Amino acid sequence: MAKAGRSRCGCCCVMGWIFGIIAAIVVLLGIAVGLFFAIVNPQKMKIQINDATITKFNLTEANQTHWLHYDMEFNVTLRNPNRIMGLYYDHFTPGVYYQTDENIMRNYVDSKFMNVVYQGKKNTTVIRYRFKGKREVYLLEAGERARFIDQFEKEKRAGFFSIDWKVEFRTRVKLGAIRIGIFRPKVRCGSSLVPFVGGNNGQKRVNVTSDVAKCRVKFKASSYDPLA
Ligand SMILES: *[C@@H]1O[C@H](CO)[C@@H](O)[C@H](O)[C@H]1NC(C)=O
Ligand SMILES: *[C@@H]1O[C@H](CO)[C@@H](O)[C@H](O)[C@H]1NC(C)=O
Ligand SMILES: *[C@@H]1O[C@H](CO)[C@@H](O)[C@H](O)[C@H]1NC(C)=O
Ligand SMILES: *[C@@H]1O[C@H](CO)[C@@H](O)[C@H](O)[C@H]1NC(C)=O
Ligand SMILES: *[C@@H]1O[C@H](CO)[C@@H](O)[C@H](O)[C@H]1NC(C)=O
Repeated sequence: MAKAGRSRCGCCCVMGWIFGIIAAIVVLLGIAVGLFFAIVNPQKMKIQINDATITKFNLTEANQTHWLHYDMEFNVTLRNPNRIMGLYYDHFTPGVYYQTDENIMRNYVDSKFMNVVYQGKKNTTVIRYRFKGKREVYLLEAGERARFIDQFEKEKRAGFFSIDWKVEFRTRVKLGAIRIGIFRPKVRCGSSLVPFVGGNNGQKRVNVTSDVAKCRVKFKASSYDPLA
């Protein structure tokens, strides 16, 4: 049947084929997105940051420039509740900010990029991170600088620092040979109180436990990016 059709007509058939292929691709993409939401139920994907401690958090000044010297550790716990498929987290990047503004995302401290993290079905993955180094603190004007230093000293005395977390990744799933993705979800982790355990001032004040930052992972159909 198909053979006969192809041999009989020329340019029109080619156009028809091309149109058919494009339509099929669109339908397949639609099915892929539908499957992803129906089977994976990405809304149930759980990410949290726990077990965080800071052993060094110093602010120094040199030539009108402030530097934050830091040494901290934390866990990122990923939970894939799905029974059928494993998940890939591409470009998985947890990041740390301090005294940041939600909108400006200034005062970036550190982050770590991992190309791919794979997680099996119904599985929990815990990744322990250590961020250590120094970073310039951008303080634009005197008032802002004073507020920043004030808050910093207050938190250091209290034995906690309020850390802002940001997690970014893209995700795809694999069902046999079918790859579904890539999705770019919106992730919001907020902030948590992280105990400062580095002060060698002898006295242990309170036995502090770090807060857990629970991230909200939001998927929309517009998160789907097949070209990524
Ligand atoms: C501060 O600036 C002076 C001159 O610009 C330079 O000689 C000095 O090394 C700088 N100090 C630091 C700690 O960067
Ligand atoms: C954090 O990660 C470490 C190392 O993987 C692990 O031993 C510890 O139990 C984790 N803590 C929590 C609260 O998951
Ligand atoms: C979780 O994944 C790891 C490696 O992908 C695997 O060894 C382990 O058996 C999995 N655990 C469960 C409960 O499926
Ligand atoms: C930073 O603070 C630690 C204590 O947390 C201290 O031992 C160290 O000397 C300080 N380093 C600098 C560069 O101020
Ligand atoms: C808190 O500290 C007290 C002693 O100062 C200790 O007995 C207790 O086990 C600690 N609690 C935790 C949760 O570490």
